Amino acid sequence: MSRFVAPSLLAADFTYLGRDVEMVNNSQADWIHLDIMDGVFVPNISFGIPVVKAVKSIARKPLDVHLMITHPDNYIEAFFRAGADNITIHMEACTDPYATVQKIRLLGIKAGVSLKPDTPVESLESVISTIDFVLIMSVNPGFGGQTFMPATYDKVRKTRELIKKSGSRALIEVDGGVDLSNAGMLYQAGVNILVAGTTIFRAADPTSMIAALKQASL
Ligand code: DX5
Ligand code: ZN
Repeated sequence: MSRFVAPSLLAADFTYLGRDVEMVNNSQADWIHLDIMDGVFVPNISFGIPVVKAVKSIARKPLDVHLMITHPDNYIEAFFRAGADNITIHMEACTDPYATVQKIRLLGIKAGVSLKPDTPVESLESVISTIDFVLIMSVNPGFGGQTFMPATYDKVRKTRELIKKSGSRALIEVDGGVDLSNAGMLYQAGVNILVAGTTIFRAADPTSMIAALKQASL
C-alpha cells in the first residue's frame, strides 16, 4: 500500500515561504498540501490563488490543493491554472458533488472529496468510483494545530470497506492533528496519505520529521 506524506504549508513560516517549500522539495515528502479557506465555509481565511501560483513556481512536488470554500465550482479552473495537481473539494460545499468532481477530472488532474468529522462515509457513495482520493478530516477544518479526533480510525476503516465494495481505486488521505503518536495506527487502518502541518513545521528538524512520518509504525 502506498504511503505518502503531504506537509501542510499552513504551518510554514510565511516570511520564509520559499525556504520552507525548498525544505519540502528536498525531503521525502510526496505532495505539498495547500489549505484554501474562505472565511465562510470555515471560520478562518488562509491564502489564495497568488500564493498557490508562487509556490508552484518553485515546487518540485505535486501541489495538493484543499478547497475549504463555498461554491468550489467557481474556482476550480483558477486553482488549476495556478498550478494545482490535485484539487479536493468538500462534500458539504457541493450541491452536485459528482458534477464538481467531473469538472476537476476533465482538467486532467486528480480529484479528491473531503468529509468533515460529522459527515458520514455513506455520503461518498455517489462519487466513490470516480474520485482519486477521499480526504478524511480528523479535526474540524479551519485551523492548524488542533487535536486529532480518534473517531477517525473507524471512519478510515469504513471508507476502506466502501472503496473495496465499490471497486474504486481511491486512496485515503487524513488531515488534522497528525503526528507520530497516530501515524502508524492510521496507516494500519488503511490510510495512504498523511497531511501534517504543525508536526512538521514546528519540529526541530522538519526534514527528519517527514521521514519519520513516512516510516511510522505502531
Ligand atoms: C485544517 C487544514 C489542515 C491543517 C493541518 O483545516 O485542512 O491541512 O493545515 O494542520 P495540523 O497538522 O497542524 O493539524
Ligand atoms: Zn488541509
